[in-house]
Amino acid sequence: MFGKKTNQDNATADAAAVTGASGLSGDNKIGEWLDHPQGGPVLRAMLAEAGQDASALRPVRRMSMKRLIPMSKGQFTEGKIAELVAKADSFDPATAAPEADTASAAEAVSTEPEFDLPEWQEKVTGGRFAGKTLIITGAGSGIGRATASRVAREGGRVIAVDMSETGLNEFVAEHADEDIVPVVGNITVEEDIAAIVAAAGDTVDGLANIAGIMDNMTPLHEVTDAVWERVMAVNVTGTFKLSRAVLPLMLAAHAGSIVNITSEAGLRGSAAGLAYTASKHAVVGMTKSSAFMYGPQGVRVNAVAPGPTITGIEANFDSALGGARIQQAMAAMPTPVGPEELAASISFLLSDDATNINGVILPSDGGWSAV
Ligand SMILES: NC(=O)c1ccc[n+]([C@@H]2O[C@H](COP(=O)([O-])OP(=O)(O)OC[C@H]3O[C@@H](n4cnc5c(N)ncnc54)[C@H](O)[C@@H]3O)[C@@H](O)[C@H]2O)c1
Repeated sequence: MFGKKTNQDNATADAAAVTGASGLSGDNKIGEWLDHPQGGPVLRAMLAEAGQDASALRPVRRMSMKRLIPMSKGQFTEGKIAELVAKADSFDPATAAPEADTASAAEAVSTEPEFDLPEWQEKVTGGRFAGKTLIITGAGSGIGRATASRVAREGGRVIAVDMSETGLNEFVAEHADEDIVPVVGNITVEEDIAAIVAAAGDTVDGLANIAGIMDNMTPLHEVTDAVWERVMAVNVTGTFKLSRAVLPLMLAAHAGSIVNITSEAGLRGSAAGLAYTASKHAVVGMTKSSAFMYGPQGVRVNAVAPGPTITGIEANFDSALGGARIQQAMAAMPTPVGPEELAASISFLLSDDATNINGVILPSDGGWSAV
């Protein structure tokens, strides 16, 4: 998912540096590219080659082109940006079809405001996790990988857990200078949980339970045993068992921070199918019960509820009823963000900066839960 360098800034620096005669580069927002007389047609032609149109980019209009690199799982590269810049430079708008002909109907219906917001930039707090050991699950992809990266770059020793060996290997390769102990393991398997705790050693200062899976948007009467069991096993039982294995170390030290990942679907009934919604509500319950029980002993337990985030998570719509109902509720969904925005919220709760925060379910969703 990430480029070849050690972090997002490095991974995208080369592409951003290529600014052509058109004035476009990887630093320009997707929306600026689409609205540009040379960049727009060139970008639409590239999408058309892939069987898509610009409506596919509507959720990321406000992101810079270079941010697509880490999100694209290798499909979009620095070289691709350089190629687009070169094509835009040599494109003559006089020879192009009128924009109205090339823009799709879906694109034309936009709820984007007229003004432009500045793009968020990650700012690393040097040494925030120095001397600390943190277990982070789901470190092979998406929110888990971005959080593991942030914590490692802020000086923490990271026990990076994922069942995907490929994802973990990529993560480790990108962080050669950081203190990372990869553990390929499945949080639903007892021996793997034991291996994770053993890899951490005698002290665990933080645990981020980020590994999780979606369901297939089925309402109760359509949920199969297989979907129910798979989703509950990872999102609930895995989170519970790993936390149970880690807590004695934190209680012995009278210190520790656990951050669980719930979802918009842990706050209401309209964001996913029955199994995922029930699992993420269970995560909220585990968080509150544990915060209440262990707060006096110095262990904080909080949760983050992400809004739409561009990651590798897979969600199928296998139910006509589920699809229709959920799509209605998605009308107020905000623009999706990158996983780094979620890592910022999660790493805050993991850190000592959140010393007085316990039992909180923190929506990190651009305000979606306020609708
Ligand atoms: N992406 C979103 O929009 C979104 C929104 C709300 C909540 N979330 C939650 O955020 C968390 C992270 O999801 P993501 O979007 O980054 O997804 P992702 O698929 O990109 O990453 C999840 C990672 O967890 C790993 N994993 C899955 N099951 C595992 C298991 N049993 N043991 C070990 N590792 C396992 C996967 O291999 C993967 O690398 C999940 O709990 C998800 O429910 C995501």
